[in-house]
Amino acid sequence: MIGNYRKVWACAVLLLASGAVFGITMLGITMFGLTMFSVPASGAAKPGDAAKGKDTFASNCDVCHNTDSVEPKVGPGLKGLFKKANLNNKKKVSDASVMELINKGSPAGMPGFEDLLSDQERADVLAYLKTL
Ligand code: HEC
Repeated sequence: MIGNYRKVWACAVLLLASGAVFGITMLGITMFGLTMFSVPASGAAKPGDAAKGKDTFASNCDVCHNTDSVEPKVGPGLKGLFKKANLNNKKKVSDASVMELINKGSPAGMPGFEDLLSDQERADVLAYLKTL
């Protein structure tokens, strides 16, 4: 009889132990999965991809901007943008000043794209603008 209790206890302890090991393993797998998948999704944009930025530009910006000249359309032509000293709004041309303009737009007639494009799409467009 006592021997049987021992067996039941031993069995229970074994079950608990294997349950804990299983739980920890699952937790590990979940954490691994979370880090793997949450990094790209959580907004920290990867360095801009100019080729993708070209597509984003074509569908969002091209209506108002030339890229092969400084000839104005609705807004100024953007050829050589990053070779200029200043933007038309007098700010020094930099990643920050151009991104601010893309995000907030301009009272002179450019819409803000902060809510229209993802962080990544805006980073891609910025990379593309540097190639002009
Ligand atoms: C509805 C028309 C319109 C759209 C769409 C538009 N822009 Fe503009 N953009 C303008 C106007 C107008 C200006 C001039 C603003 C000013 O001088 O303050 C401008 C200015 C700029 C400038 C500054 C140029 C300079 O030399 O000062 C950049 C860079 C720019 N836009 C990029 C973009 C990008 C990138 C997109 C797409 C994500 C975009 N624009 C979409 C109208 C537009």
